[in-house]
Amino acid sequence: MNPFKYGQVVSASDFCPRPIIMKQVVDAIKAGQNIVLQGERRTGKTSLVHEAVRQIKNRSILYVDLLEIKDADDLCKRMVKAIISLEQQSGFLDRILRALTHLRPTVSVDPLTGEPSITLDASVSLKPDSIDGILDLIEGIHRKRPLVVMFDEFQDILNLRSSKETLAVLRSKIQFHGKIPYVFAGSVRNQMHDIFTSPDSPFFKSAISIEVGPLDRGEFKNFLQQKFSSGKRKIDDDVLDTGFTISGDLPGDMQQFCGALWDTTDEKAHITKPSIQSAMHLIFSRESKGYESIMVQLTAHQLRCLVGLARLGGTAPFSGAFLQGVGIPNPASVKKSLHRLAQLKVIYRYSGEFKFVNPFFKEWIVWKNL
Ligand SMILES: Nc1ncnc2c1ncn2[C@@H]1O[C@H](COP(=O)(O)OP(=O)(O)O)[C@@H](O)[C@H]1O
Ligand SMILES: [Mg+2]
Repeated sequence: MNPFKYGQVVSASDFCPRPIIMKQVVDAIKAGQNIVLQGERRTGKTSLVHEAVRQIKNRSILYVDLLEIKDADDLCKRMVKAIISLEQQSGFLDRILRALTHLRPTVSVDPLTGEPSITLDASVSLKPDSIDGILDLIEGIHRKRPLVVMFDEFQDILNLRSSKETLAVLRSKIQFHGKIPYVFAGSVRNQMHDIFTSPDSPFFKSAISIEVGPLDRGEFKNFLQQKFSSGKRKIDDDVLDTGFTISGDLPGDMQQFCGALWDTTDEKAHITKPSIQSAMHLIFSRESKGYESIMVQLTAHQLRCLVGLARLGGTAPFSGAFLQGVGIPNPASVKKSLHRLAQLKVIYRYSGEFKFVNPFFKEWIVWKNL
């Protein structure tokens, strides 16, 4: 079976140890300290916290994902669902359902996956001040069983029209939850900065800030090489180096790259540089429909900018060389195109650089010679 895992939270033997940052997270959790966890998309933040909680005895994670959150009602319901699913795992479902009767929750089992799914009465609409009661509930659970509360993609709370009010409610309550470690993870640096350094954020100041960068290449290489050798394959160092370059050191994309190498080689194979081509072709064949469906949505200018980013890189898209390369003389027009590409989630900006959300899309554009 293919040992490479991506597009999901990894833990235990699927998690490449990162001892330094792990110790920071574990120590903070044990001290009941709040953490602001900041790092580029897909650097392993969610996995890091899940694995930290797994390694600490007698801790459970209450995980609330705020990705693309719409309004306060949505936030409350995501929190409630997280509570229900936690209590379900630990056999306290009836008690928690009784506490939430006003939301008329129903739990059903998906016949295909066997996964429980929770629905709440859609006609009950929750407001920012409902968060108060939900946080009380969390505190009650924590008193019986220590928790770590993780708000993931926390910057999306700024999507809410009532974001100020919602943050204020969270803030005023959480500052009295001294013993519960709250983790606020986020992947959009400037938005996280806005939330956590604004002068009216007293309790956020007490949180420690941890930056999640890429995995150590040496340790990650070791980890990946061991996975290959568990399937009686040997892989050359420079193949992995190419993978690191293509994936920009993002661990999920690196695992996808290795997964494709695995799928295109046999047991006892020695994986060398020429093996890369068929692995990339496999990824392209699985993904090219998706790439094409993005491209049909683009205007001529947006497409030229996208191709320019693939060919020339995204560090200086307003430079003379870039403008000339894409044949668009006007920087404002490039800016508009980049904005649209970011809106479509094809690219994102991190530390001043415009990057492809999917690095294989970039490779495909170059390979297709677009
Ligand atoms: N420590 C790790 N060891 C191995 N792979 C990892 C590790 N951390 C992350 N990954 C890979 O990266 C992918 C994205 O990780 P995730 O934790 O979801 O990142 P983030 O929360 O920062 O977006 C995972 O599916 C996995 O393939
Ligand atoms: Mg995440």
